[in-house]
Amino acid sequence: MEIIQSPSDMTSWSNRMIVDGGKIALVPTMGYFHDGHLALMKRAREECDLLVVSLFVNPIQFGPNEDLDKYPRDFEGDAAKVEQVGSDVLFAPDASAMYRSPLTRVVVSGLTETLCGSDRPRHFEGVTTVVAKLFHIVKPHVAVFGEKDFQQLAVIRRMVGDLNWDISIVGHPIVREHDGLAMSSRNMYLSSEERKKALSLSSALAFARGRVQAGCLDAEELIAEISTRFFSEIDEVQVDYISIINSEDLSPQQKISENSQLAIAAKVGKTRLIDNCRLFEE
Ligand code: PAJ
Repeated sequence: MEIIQSPSDMTSWSNRMIVDGGKIALVPTMGYFHDGHLALMKRAREECDLLVVSLFVNPIQFGPNEDLDKYPRDFEGDAAKVEQVGSDVLFAPDASAMYRSPLTRVVVSGLTETLCGSDRPRHFEGVTTVVAKLFHIVKPHVAVFGEKDFQQLAVIRRMVGDLNWDISIVGHPIVREHDGLAMSSRNMYLSSEERKKALSLSSALAFARGRVQAGCLDAEELIAEISTRFFSEIDEVQVDYISIINSEDLSPQQKISENSQLAIAAKVGKTRLIDNCRLFEE
């Protein structure tokens, strides 16, 4: 496996591979890998003959009071994991190489102003800008993203469609711990008490799917039930949102239908967690 740091070296590598008929899959990440990240890489490995994993803790998607400096890092451990998956390249640029003094941003409006975007106004702009840059640098044919960040996935799909980008975007299902908690680099911040309370997110999703199967199709009623049953009596868990939305355009829904997605964001202690699911069986 090659470790490439310079964006121009990365592009030269991709150009060489593409001239030889190679098909490249990209998995963009911010590192500190868990099994969720590794599942995306394995999936990408199956999609194409060449795999590039990017590892870049993107400063412009963090707000002023967010955890950029504290964001967990383990370059050596990550590199070993990527090598084990059989990646051809680990692309790990540093911030000065990615952002000299940029005046350009890629913005997807509408979809980015709700849910996780409503109190993090420039977050998605940071994500779409870095992903656009990674797409130009790496020139992938396929890029794999996790459904855990389903709003991010919807925004990226929209950007790629709107900009007529010839890249196939693959969504990978959420990878969970044995007890249902969605894997996340942020789970390491949870104390053992908080870790138990964090299960209210995945338990609420499972409960909601059961209620829909039993015939509850009223979004407002279901959201109220979830709030009282799972979130009203736990002081350390502060709900940011519980929303039932259309999975493509993220518009709120009154009546639950085939394409309804339930999304929850909550702070457990100081750690913000997100989770989501389809409400109908797939
Ligand atoms: P990061 O949080 O490192 O996540 C990298 C990819 O892993 C994302 O596509 C995310 O959805 C996916 N992922 C994380 N946890 C997962 C889980 N439990 N199951 C399935 N997939 C999971 O998301 C980012 O980085 C950044 O915003 C990035 C897209 C790299 C842009 O900087």
